[in-house]
Amino acid sequence: MTDPQLVLAERVQQALGTAFGPEYATEDPLIRPSQFADYQANVALSLAKRLRRAPREVAQALLEALDTTDITAEISGPGFLNLTLGDDWIAGQAVRQLRDERLGVPRSAEPKTVVIDYSAPNAAKEMHVGHLRTTIVGDTLARTHEHVGNRVIRQNHLGDWGTPFGMLIEHLLDIGEEEALRRLAAGDGNAYYQEARLKFDTDPAFEERSRRRVPLLQGGDPETLRLWHEFIEYTKRYFNHVYTLLGVTLTDDDIAGESMYNPMLADVCEELTHAGVAEVSEGALCVFPPGFTGRDDMPLPLIIRKSDGGYGYATTDLAAIRYRIRDLKADRILYVVGATQSLHFQMVFESARVAGWLHDDVHAEHVQIGSVLGSDGKMFKTRSGKSIKLTELLEEGVVRAEAVIADRGYDPAVRRQIARQVGMGAVKYADLSVSHDSEYVFDFDRMLALTGNTGPYLQYATARIRSIFRTGSYDPADATGPIKLGHPAERALALQLLRFGSVVEAVAELSEPHRLCNYLFDLAQAFTSFYEGCPVLKAEDEEVRQSRLALSALTLRVLLQGLHLLGIEVPERM
Ligand code: ARG
Repeated sequence: MTDPQLVLAERVQQALGTAFGPEYATEDPLIRPSQFADYQANVALSLAKRLRRAPREVAQALLEALDTTDITAEISGPGFLNLTLGDDWIAGQAVRQLRDERLGVPRSAEPKTVVIDYSAPNAAKEMHVGHLRTTIVGDTLARTHEHVGNRVIRQNHLGDWGTPFGMLIEHLLDIGEEEALRRLAAGDGNAYYQEARLKFDTDPAFEERSRRRVPLLQGGDPETLRLWHEFIEYTKRYFNHVYTLLGVTLTDDDIAGESMYNPMLADVCEELTHAGVAEVSEGALCVFPPGFTGRDDMPLPLIIRKSDGGYGYATTDLAAIRYRIRDLKADRILYVVGATQSLHFQMVFESARVAGWLHDDVHAEHVQIGSVLGSDGKMFKTRSGKSIKLTELLEEGVVRAEAVIADRGYDPAVRRQIARQVGMGAVKYADLSVSHDSEYVFDFDRMLALTGNTGPYLQYATARIRSIFRTGSYDPADATGPIKLGHPAERALALQLLRFGSVVEAVAELSEPHRLCNYLFDLAQAFTSFYEGCPVLKAEDEEVRQSRLALSALTLRVLLQGLHLLGIEVPERM
């Protein structure tokens, strides 16, 4: 364990046990950064009342029981315990981290099977910035879980089934298969959908044809299925194009769309009925999960078979959760989906619990994704008010990034490559750096800024460290220390570096990528202070220079590894 905060917490807990008895050894020691020391423990203040002793007295007892190897401790103020780690300890840990290919990130002793449901665009509608965000957040969670040693199963729950396909197939026949498929692969799915919708709403004959098409699809009519397959196939090409642009790890093997569950839906209804979990209400088969009431306090139903016999989104999700638990053997299931679907997932989870599928050994969580807004504070659309085509948006990001680096004198091909990395990095970082459930305003200027908590700032920080090594003709791989800490900025940098492992663990544990972003941002800033206060190449003393090179190399590696977990590519120069 290298995280200084955790090391101190453990020490103070030991002292709590020694001073006040074992029942206190699990008390939160309330370790916080301090102005006067590295950290302070505030637990004496919170315990004083319970122990019926003055806070300073409690702090004194703690201090006496504390193992102070590598630490200095003193009482301050009303009863804070100020804690400072020894320079040798910090330097020693930093060298260990430098020599550890995992950079201090622990590998899970008991790997878990983590199913991650993310991206999940609708083939029948549009892929919008909301899907972009679930794609990006989900991908970071997948990468992080893999990195900490869990077994990750990605599930792209495509919206590829249901009644809209009746009209979409009829529209395809109307405009001609070839033309339709070309447009779908090009990402014109939105316009295509809207045209079909308009005809459906205004042309009764088309509406009639579309309705008749639905049972043909569900009943497995070969020609209808063939057309549906083509439709999905070409739409998938577009999704894959977006994933490639973004450097997202999803592949066709991860697709487990709604259609996949079609053969299981009848059985799901039967099992739930048999178990007494589902009942017929007003002609529809419903589950009434406990704890959900609507207006007038009436129990809220999760409809799993409509009165016309059709199945819906909820039925599919119940089939999916059963499959993920029984067949995929999930220990944990993350649903990285828009926050607006919160009630749906609560009801699905509760129903699965009542059905006995979601038992205590499995955790299902809705990782709620907040909306992406336009500058007008409404859901993000293009300027013309039409919904946006994602590839165009991403291309715009690349073009704008190119303008940001235009004056660097790169030849066009190199510039284009860097611009792609910077543009995509900017978009992804914007999605990841705010807490996943908060809304934020999509703003290219802010995302692409080279200062502040942005992707390009962090990319630039790595390029700057690389240029130090280039300038001095040193190879970062050779910078192995030893590390000696003299200047306060060196200490601060090293302390920050040591926290990396526990931050990565927290991202996996809590499904909160923004913690890693904040950490990397703080790290880049700590490096800037270090670089301003401590000459590296110009250090007079050879040992000092080697130590500073080692700190720089470690910072570079942690930044690169962190950005890799965020799915952000890093140009060598910027
Ligand atoms: N396709 C859905 C949508 O766009 C998201 C699906 C999320 N996953 C799930 N298991 N329901 O809203």
